[in-house]
Amino acid sequence: MNTVKTVRELRAAVARARSEGKRIGFVPTMGNLHSGHAALVAKAAQRVDFVVASIFVNPLQFGAGEDLDKYPRTLAADQEKLLEAGCHLLFAPSVEEMYPEGMAGQTRVCVPQLSEGLCGASRPGHFEGVATVVSKLFNMVQPDLAVFGQKDFQQLAVIRALVRDLNMPIQIIGEPTVRAPDGLALSSRNGYLNDEQRACAPALYRTLTQMADAIKVGKHDFPALIAQGQQQLIEAGFRPDYLEVRHAITLRPATEQDRDLVILVAAFLGATRLIDNLHLNLDDKP
Ligand code: PAF
Repeated sequence: MNTVKTVRELRAAVARARSEGKRIGFVPTMGNLHSGHAALVAKAAQRVDFVVASIFVNPLQFGAGEDLDKYPRTLAADQEKLLEAGCHLLFAPSVEEMYPEGMAGQTRVCVPQLSEGLCGASRPGHFEGVATVVSKLFNMVQPDLAVFGQKDFQQLAVIRALVRDLNMPIQIIGEPTVRAPDGLALSSRNGYLNDEQRACAPALYRTLTQMADAIKVGKHDFPALIAQGQQQLIEAGFRPDYLEVRHAITLRPATEQDRDLVILVAAFLGATRLIDNLHLNLDDKP
């Protein structure tokens, strides 16, 4: 696996692969990789002949006071994991390479509606930063397909919309969330948790599964389920940011008639904000 740091080198390596008739898959990341990322790379490797991953901690998607500076940078360990997972080329650009003109005047990509509410409400500008960097990366790599984790459910919806609306010929694949044995979704931010917080953290997914079980047996009073879920989170030591039941495609608040649902949560343990979700389609066979 080669690591390149410039757009010029990236384009040359991808062009070589294309000239050999290879299909290109792409997995964008911010590094500090775990088995969830490895699953994304492995999925891409099943589908195409040449897998490109990127590691770039994108300043444009972090708000003031967020964890941009302390976000873990672990390039050497990440390179090993990518190689093992079947990656062929790593693009690890600097901020200057990605934003040579600076960020203030950078053209932005905005996906309205889907970017509003949920994480978009708590992190203003976040999805504009994500949509912008992902569009740039897509234009640099020009992959046939790209793989993203379903853990970032709203992000995945935003990226599907931008690819559709901007007519990008890229297939977007959503991969199921990889979880620790106790149910906690793997995330680079789990590393911020102390032992006591880590012990509380599985309550996040437990709350989602309990709500989903209640919905499956016909409880459709979503405000009551949400209030109960929030109480559970508080008792487990969380400070909830949001807990919502939404339509899984539009992300609008769910109605009793909706069948394709997603329960989404963001909650703080100390200063660490964790997110998770559970997608349930009531028309699926048990
Ligand atoms: O999910 C992430 O790691 C990031 O938001 C992404 C998609 C790599 C864009 O910076």
